[in-house]
Amino acid sequence: MKKVKIDPFQLANITVSKTALLVTQSKEGKTNMMALDWKTIGNLWGDPVCVIAVAPSRYSFSLLGEVKEFSLNVPSPKIRSAVSIAGSYSGRTTDKIEMAGLTLEPAKIIDVPIIAEAMINYECKIIHEAESGSICSHRLYFGEILEAYADESLLK
Ligand SMILES: Cc1cc2nc3c(=O)[nH]c(=O)nc-3n(C[C@H](O)[C@H](O)[C@H](O)COP(=O)(O)O)c2cc1C
Repeated sequence: MKKVKIDPFQLANITVSKTALLVTQSKEGKTNMMALDWKTIGNLWGDPVCVIAVAPSRYSFSLLGEVKEFSLNVPSPKIRSAVSIAGSYSGRTTDKIEMAGLTLEPAKIIDVPIIAEAMINYECKIIHEAESGSICSHRLYFGEILEAYADESLLK
């Protein structure tokens, strides 16, 4: 798959309409992923920002609290099974990347790797956090999108 740089908003309609994305976070060279449905992409404070909602019980929540970066990856149909692994096991006890047979690739700007098999990747730096309040008990992480790239076939 050949990836090309995109404007962060260019394929946002695909990204926000997917019921499950893969979010990677890492610490001390070890990377974890979780399945994530609750997200949005928009323009906040003049920057392209994606907002993800993560429950405090997730291992991902602990990692996001320590290393303020994450990658957001839109899975292609070929790696659908990776989504159920990412959403059914915890990185506390399982290396889900290995279990799903996915390939990590160094990101261009952030220290957290991206998932090579995903069709769209976003590199994000957390610039704000907020509790989701009365809606549910998730924390909202506001990630400035520093870089975005996609499978070039999506642009044709
Ligand atoms: C399709 C799908 C969507 C999910 N969306 C979210 C979400 O938006 N936020 C969240 O906190 N958990 C969500 N989950 C649950 C986490 O992915 C799941 O609890 C996962 O095991 C957490 O992994 P971790 O402990 O390694 O962080 C979703 C699970 C699935 C299967």
